[in-house]
Amino acid sequence: MTTVTLLITDVAYGGRGVARLENGKVCFVPGVLTGETVRAGVLRERDGFAEARLLEIVTPSPARIAPACPLAYSCSSSLSCPGCTYQHVDYAEEVRIKQHQLVSLLTRQAGIDAAVPQPPVPAPLPLGYRNKLSLHAQKDGKETRLGYFAEDNQTVLDVPACPLADPALNRCLTELRNDVSVRHGLRDGMTLTFRHTEREAAVWWRGEPRANETWLVENTLLGPLSVPRGSFFQVNPPVAGLLLSQIMESLQACAPRTVVDLFCGVGLFSLAAAKAGVPETIGIDVDGPGIVAAEFNARKLNLSGIRWEAAPAQKALAKLGPKLEAGDTALIVDPPRNGLGRALVQEILNHPPRHLYYISCAPDTMVRDLAWLREGGYLTERTQLFDMFPRTAHFESLTVLHR
Ligand SMILES: C[S@@+](CC[C@H](N)C(=O)[O-])C[C@H]1O[C@@H](n2cnc3c(N)ncnc32)[C@H](O)[C@@H]1O
Repeated sequence: MTTVTLLITDVAYGGRGVARLENGKVCFVPGVLTGETVRAGVLRERDGFAEARLLEIVTPSPARIAPACPLAYSCSSSLSCPGCTYQHVDYAEEVRIKQHQLVSLLTRQAGIDAAVPQPPVPAPLPLGYRNKLSLHAQKDGKETRLGYFAEDNQTVLDVPACPLADPALNRCLTELRNDVSVRHGLRDGMTLTFRHTEREAAVWWRGEPRANETWLVENTLLGPLSVPRGSFFQVNPPVAGLLLSQIMESLQACAPRTVVDLFCGVGLFSLAAAKAGVPETIGIDVDGPGIVAAEFNARKLNLSGIRWEAAPAQKALAKLGPKLEAGDTALIVDPPRNGLGRALVQEILNHPPRHLYYISCAPDTMVRDLAWLREGGYLTERTQLFDMFPRTAHFESLTVLHR
């Protein structure tokens, strides 16, 4: 391993610092900050770039802080937890870094005007915010570790507590770890899921949740929402609330006749549209139990004018056809990390709705899709970062487009 001294000039999306080797090649180093001088060991050189590990911080940034977790990446860690990328950064600086990444992705990769990004929305709680943990059991001789996969993707790191998790989940984890019968019941490869809601406090289960398991109830600004244990719900409820308010405000101003909420989960944004006075809403998700809960949620909240469909996004959009572009329809999309993809963007462009709200948890796939939507005639009005996942490399954003 060659040792080099590097000046860090940027922190790229994903959290690795950017520097240049003497031969001019870009070199990525984790655990560093812009302006720092570091000693690093070059691990591999590829055609276009090199990757190094951090050995020593020679000149630290004023924004550097001590990590809240002993498993976070550092000069001395042999295996670290890859979940947290920004444990070594003051939180205000983390938000600045993420905003810089979003602006750079939007302008460079989607050709979007620099006036589009709005000021970022930081999380009220940079730690202790997650309402869900998934931990893996791994047997190693007589020892059983329970925790997250390390950066090698093979070794499970024992996690006594996760600083990102709601404190109630960490208390539940401690009790469980101290319970000999539970510990003896852990099998190699088993996954344990922990969920927190204000109503239920902390619950946990092994493997997949049973189909007949009681639903969880999440308090939201729309009222209580029922969520089947295997269905998606936003992991950071305070930030989800801020995002929801922003969407409702925007829908009230835009006043579409119809909202199509693609990837609706248990109905969060469909219900918000109905509450914001939209006369007709269609909520679509491939998750059947999620759609059953969405219907139940609408009835419980006494919200009408919503039709639900359990179907894959592509098929459901194709079925909607010309209805999607009729009048002043707004399409809300909140896809998983892989984004919409070419085929779904094409399906949208076949019958383009006048307004499009793109909620994304992965800005790299989002800017790819936005570039296609721009070619298809959409103008981006605004993009705003919501820091749904503090201390990690990820962030949420809401982009509003029209045509
Ligand atoms: C990021 S979540 C959004 C959920 C919802 N908007 C919310 O805020 O609670 C993504 C959702 O996409 C759904 N999904 C994944 N692939 C899908 C597909 N091909 N077609 C329709 N829905 C899909 C998942 O079931 C999940 O509910």
